[in-house]
Amino acid sequence: MEVIIMKDYNAMSKKAAEIIKSVVLRKPNCVLGLATGGTPVGTYKELIKFHKEGKLDFSKVITFNLDEYISLPKTHDQSYFYFMHDNLFNHINVNPENVHVPDGMAEDVETFCKWYEDEIKKAGGVDVQLLGIGSDGHIAFNEPGSSLASRTRMKTLDEQTIKDNARFFKSEAEVPRYAITMGVGTILESKELLLIANGKKKADVCAEFIEGPITSQITASALQLHPKAIVVLDEEAASKLKKYNYYKWVYENKPKK
Ligand code: PGA
Repeated sequence: MEVIIMKDYNAMSKKAAEIIKSVVLRKPNCVLGLATGGTPVGTYKELIKFHKEGKLDFSKVITFNLDEYISLPKTHDQSYFYFMHDNLFNHINVNPENVHVPDGMAEDVETFCKWYEDEIKKAGGVDVQLLGIGSDGHIAFNEPGSSLASRTRMKTLDEQTIKDNARFFKSEAEVPRYAITMGVGTILESKELLLIANGKKKADVCAEFIEGPITSQITASALQLHPKAIVVLDEEAASKLKKYNYYKWVYENKPKK
């Protein structure tokens, strides 16, 4: 796992966007795995900036999102479908036909999940998967206890996740209790993983998934199994790391041990 520590949220976002940009430039018809939540918003702003400056063309890019709440229609302002259009898709030239977000209103969830997995395969697999991390250590909605071999399926949200996500809703009671999520096994099949995290609140869990054992109690620890996993943290999220010398990026963006 390559751990890169940036000064702050903006620098973390810029670094993550640069990594995604390099994949799109190398392979204009690449498959991007995308994430929602507060963390990736800055990364998406940077990608939009690249696009508006004429540096990035998304016309051939295919996207797959990690997860979606069950029971929220696409038009709900807290659905991940809505989030992705609001924060990225409406501002770049991605072809709507190439966009995939799990359908939280699917009548037959099991059949839908199988279809989603098949679509990822048909597209050739995900080239780079962007990930956030929950304060309970989840990637996507793979809550503690999720099998590290799991596939796209329905999951019950952990109490901690419901509390964490209540900030986006009028009240905790309004947070959906179920979601469709790519599995840890699905995520591990991506050619490259890019996990981003910022802020003091993520410091403990970042130390655990990077330096602790691989465990289904912290599904982000499965990144240790991946041959090409990059973790970009800001200094606060990295503040509890102890064991190794990680790359610190100073203002000029030069790696310094
Ligand atoms: P956050 O969520 O970016 O809003 O902190 C991360 C996650 O739950 O994956």
